[in-house]
Amino acid sequence: MEKLIIKGGQKLKGKVKISGFKNSAVAILPATVLAGDKCVIDNLPHISDVQILAELLSELGADVKELDSNTLEIDTTKMEGCYASYEQAKELRASYYLLGAALGRFKKAKVAYPGGCSIGSRPIDQHIKGFEALGAKVTVEHGIISAEAEKLVGAEIYLDVVSVGATINIMLAAVMAEGTTIIENAAKEPHIVDMANFLNCMGANVKGAGTDIIKIKGVEKLGGCNHSVIPDQIEAGTYMIAAAAAGGDVIIDNVIPKHLEAITAKLKEMGVKVTENGDSIRIVSSKELKNISIKTLVYPGFPTDLQQPMSSLLTTARGTGIVAETIFEGRFKHVDELKRMGANIKVEGRIAVIEGVKGLTSATVSASDLRAGASLVIAGLMAEGETEIENVQYIDRGYEDLEAKLIGLGANVRREDRE
Ligand code: EPZ
Repeated sequence: MEKLIIKGGQKLKGKVKISGFKNSAVAILPATVLAGDKCVIDNLPHISDVQILAELLSELGADVKELDSNTLEIDTTKMEGCYASYEQAKELRASYYLLGAALGRFKKAKVAYPGGCSIGSRPIDQHIKGFEALGAKVTVEHGIISAEAEKLVGAEIYLDVVSVGATINIMLAAVMAEGTTIIENAAKEPHIVDMANFLNCMGANVKGAGTDIIKIKGVEKLGGCNHSVIPDQIEAGTYMIAAAAAGGDVIIDNVIPKHLEAITAKLKEMGVKVTENGDSIRIVSSKELKNISIKTLVYPGFPTDLQQPMSSLLTTARGTGIVAETIFEGRFKHVDELKRMGANIKVEGRIAVIEGVKGLTSATVSASDLRAGASLVIAGLMAEGETEIENVQYIDRGYEDLEAKLIGLGANVRREDRE
């Protein structure tokens, strides 16, 4: 197992380029199943989740070629169906997008229950509700979700919970259904729009993505197309927080500032200087910051994926901060690790109360999930001394070239094999 060693106390300075959005990439790759043709997807982040999905698609019969480290050519012409076993599906949450894509193309799919970060129960009842509304029969036996339909017919589907995954999965199943599908109370995240653009580029008819009502007119067939994944606003937000936490002057390049409005607003509230300039954001932070409260909400609210990185920043801000995690009930596993570094945090249910302390001290800590790992990296940048972070494989799932990007900003970071 590898670990990261971070010597804290270095201010960050310079420019960091943001990669393609993990959560968009891991939806668009399975969506290529719908094309039954060749697609070229670029601006993919070079991370383990993308590599795992590329391998899974080729195991399922697609021809996958790596054109460069951020571009895949995927030809799904020869695919005849989809059965993703536990071994294949357990690695990541996004394997469940194969259900919607294979159901949409083959009218049947079998995918084992997905894996993914342990941040709560993560049910998929809304996905199943959508598939059944379209006419599919869905069963779950021995951990395998099977969906099958004589034909798929457009329907009106109201999501009881605003769910990114369910919104995308229903879009995938509906694009070649007969008639029109309306998804109400749909998620509005930027990667829903990215997915709609990709589907329409393949010949689908999807309107309203980015609002809470998405209208999909079924078409006969889709074809291949080329698509560039949007920049990763969660990676960008992580570096914005890191720059604020370590102090310094950092330009975060290749972003869509509109996607970062919530994090920008909260950093400004703390006293961080944030300036937007086209497709880059500049962070200047030096003086002691003021503690604030954050509440995670669906887009365009404060993103749950930045709650853990933000919690690290609040540990040394002046005063008391309140963090309310309204999306996932198990997303405070990083708190005990931050306490090892001297943080003063009390968790009651979905609320964490953070009393600002003078400073953090280094310790050996362990990442429990992707964004918890990111929060520990930020804490390591802040702490006096050398922090060792174990289970780095979680962080590698979602951050491309993490050490190189941090070292490029002047951080003292190295990776070691844990003896
Ligand atoms: C996606 O997870 C992301 N993962 C998560 O990012 C992100 O935190 C989440 O969206 C919210 O933005 C990927 O895109 C691979 P949801 P997803 O369905 O789709 C409940 C990261 O760190 N719900 O929007 O699983 C669910 O329990 C990862 O990059 C149901 O009740 O999230 C949660 O409370 C972590 N029934 C809420 O909805 C369902 O059928 C939002 O979940 C589906 C979801």
